[in-house]
Amino acid sequence: MTLRCLVLASGRGSNFEALLRASAGADAPYALTGLVTDRPATGAQALAEAAGVPQRCLPFKAFPSRASFDQALAETLVTAAPDLVLCAGFMRVLGPAFFTHCPLPLVNIHPALLPAHRGLHTHRRVLEAGDPFHGATVHWLTPALDSGPTIAQARLPVLPGEGEAALAARVLRLEHALYPQALAHLAAHRLAPPTPLELFWDEEALTPWA
Ligand code: GAR
Repeated sequence: MTLRCLVLASGRGSNFEALLRASAGADAPYALTGLVTDRPATGAQALAEAAGVPQRCLPFKAFPSRASFDQALAETLVTAAPDLVLCAGFMRVLGPAFFTHCPLPLVNIHPALLPAHRGLHTHRRVLEAGDPFHGATVHWLTPALDSGPTIAQARLPVLPGEGEAALAARVLRLEHALYPQALAHLAAHRLAPPTPLELFWDEEALTPWA
C-alpha cells in the first residue's frame, strides 16, 4: 500500500525534508503529494519548490478569525483528498471548525515521549525534570492537544551534562528517522496497526534519512 500524503508545516522544514528524502527510496510506502503552510516564506516551502512538490500557503494572519482559517484549511485538505495528512513542525493548534469540516486522518510528530511533555519547550522541560530518557512520538492528531493514540515512539538516553541545544539536535535527528518508519508501520497495517511501534535508537547506527 502506497500512502498518498499531504504535509502541513510552519517553518524550517527539516522533518518535511526527511520525509521527502525517504519517499524517494525504491520501496517507499508513501508519496508526498503536496505541502500546505500557514505562513509565507518558510524553509519547508523552499524545499518543496526545489523538489517539485505542489504547495499552497494559507497565511493564518490573513484570515479574519481562527475559525475561518480552520475552515479554509479543512476545505483545502478535503479537496486535495490525500490518504493521510502529516503535520511536520506544524505549529498551529486546530480548533473545532477544522475537525468539523475535515474527516481525513491526520498524523503529528511531537518532540517528546508522550504523554509526557505535551506542548512547547519539551527539551528544556525534560532537562528541568531530570528525565533519564527523551525522544519523539508520532501519533494520530485529535482535537485534544498532543493527546491522540501513539503510532510510533523512539527514545534515547539524556546524556550527563547535556544542554538544551545539544539534546534538541539529537532528538531532531531521531525524528527524521522515526517519521518515515512510522509511515511504513501504518502502510504495512493499512492505517490500523494493532500496536504502536516502540524504538530505542542506537544512535551510532542511526542514519539521518533511514
Ligand atoms: C520538530 O521538532 C517537531 O517535532 C516540532 O517542531 C519541530 C519542527 O522542526 N513540532 C512540534 O513541536 C509540534 N507540537 P522542522 O520544521 O525542522 O521539521
